Amino acid sequence: MIDLHCHILAGIDDGARDLDEAVALCQMAVADGIRHMTATPHIHPGRWENRRSSIEPVFQQLRQRLAQEQLPLSLAMAGEVRLSAEVLALFAEGELPFLGQLDGRQVMLLELPHGSIPPGSDKLAKWLIERNILPIIAHPERNKAVVADIDKLLPFLEMGCLTQLTAMSVSGRFGEGAEHTAHAILAQDWATIVASDAHNTGSRPPILSEAYNVVAERYGPERAERLFVRNPAAIAGIELDA
Ligand SMILES: [Fe+2]
Repeated sequence: MIDLHCHILAGIDDGARDLDEAVALCQMAVADGIRHMTATPHIHPGRWENRRSSIEPVFQQLRQRLAQEQLPLSLAMAGEVRLSAEVLALFAEGELPFLGQLDGRQVMLLELPHGSIPPGSDKLAKWLIERNILPIIAHPERNKAVVADIDKLLPFLEMGCLTQLTAMSVSGRFGEGAEHTAHAILAQDWATIVASDAHNTGSRPPILSEAYNVVAERYGPERAERLFVRNPAAIAGIELDA
């Protein structure tokens, strides 16, 4: 499986605290059947002041350490970009990191606030698309406005935005609201990928297998392969064995 949303870089957000914890997260992911992770630290102006160029050296540090540990895991870096006016400046400075490409567009993990969909969110998404950046909306099933009404996602879907569900929502470990909403989104076939959004080895682990099995059982093995393997591989530019 391929995990395109996780907080495994050491000491730059609320994910891994140090390099040892980062390595422990990677080991746990490999044991769960994950073979590629794209690290996506928070880029949240005013809270987590990360940007592409500041994430890069921390990413290289983990990459080197993983090579020493000889862990069979490929690693890439991007970021989880919080919806904010600063996105415009980060774009202008070439500091937005991307998960990869799809149909010639750069794919960017975009996080909405948890409590609402602020007015203007769709405008920012449109602004990005006009600049050839396709937002993939991080865990919409945990956004209160979407929990109340999944049709709130429609304006984003209609302009072509992708969506990422969090594995623990799908498996019911994020409470009933997130679980119910995740499955409503899956029932509509609106999800593009499922990712771990791992932060630590305890309450937010890099585990995808449990949600994979839930999806395979409820929507069929084909869908599980699409959401956990094929779609994330296509975005990250990973070649799959035939
Ligand atoms: Fe996240």
